[in-house]
Amino acid sequence: MLGGTGRTGQYIIEQALKHGLRVTALARNPDKLNKWADNANLEILKGDVSHFPDVYNAVQGNDAIVSALGRDGRNLDAITKGTENIIAAVQKSEIKKTICLSSFGAGSTHPYSDWILKLIVHLSGLSSAFQAKAHQELLLYKSKINFTLVMAGTLADQTHANGCFAYSTNNLPRINGLPDKIERVAVAKFMLEQLDSTHWVRNTVCLLAER
Ligand SMILES: NC(=O)c1ccc[n+]([C@@H]2O[C@H](COP(=O)([O-])OP(=O)(O)OC[C@H]3O[C@@H](n4cnc5c(N)ncnc54)[C@H](OP(=O)(O)O)[C@@H]3O)[C@@H](O)[C@H]2O)c1
Repeated sequence: MLGGTGRTGQYIIEQALKHGLRVTALARNPDKLNKWADNANLEILKGDVSHFPDVYNAVQGNDAIVSALGRDGRNLDAITKGTENIIAAVQKSEIKKTICLSSFGAGSTHPYSDWILKLIVHLSGLSSAFQAKAHQELLLYKSKINFTLVMAGTLADQTHANGCFAYSTNNLPRINGLPDKIERVAVAKFMLEQLDSTHWVRNTVCLLAER
């Protein structure tokens, strides 16, 4: 698990442990995962995804990588160097699947996002992060690894939405305005479901609120 200390990553760890999965979490600040310190199924390793040996070491003995990595302020290393290191580590190991979380509006989903989202991304200084995510998508497609790239709409801990719906970029409706918020817990559930599914392998999937 990469990004397990983050707002979405914590839901992923919680659900994975509830399902009895064995999880290795690579974290810069392992203390953030103290609430699970007694769980024998969670191994916590200290490290940084921009440092290849840390990623390589963390993936050994695991079947899959689940990543909810995000930027650290203006620092985009987790997305840029992190993706390069993930791909290199997968190529040198027994990892069968890599599930990464990204943002609706980046990369191949950019044409389907409304001008208002594009403006907000621009005004809030997120353009470089969205460019990094577009590059991440290119790197994943260029690689030969079994990835699923999950591009999610705006995330929240609680919403009024019923849940979320998975769209391929071939049948994605054009979203007018901002996408409705979706719950992080639903995104975590979807990402973990991909561990047992081949449906979205080597694909970008867009998660949006059900309307
Ligand atoms: N927020 C939204 O509405 C939204 C919507 C759609 C998609 N997304 C995307 O979903 C992903 C997760 O979002 P989030 O809100 O859960 O993110 P978040 O709370 O900011 O968590 C980001 C995670 O990345 C880790 N990280 C950053 N740099 C790292 C590095 N160099 N090495 C190791 N770990 C590093 C952080 O670790 P530390 O705890 O050490 O900082 C943290 O665990 C992001 O890519 C985000 O852009 C977000």
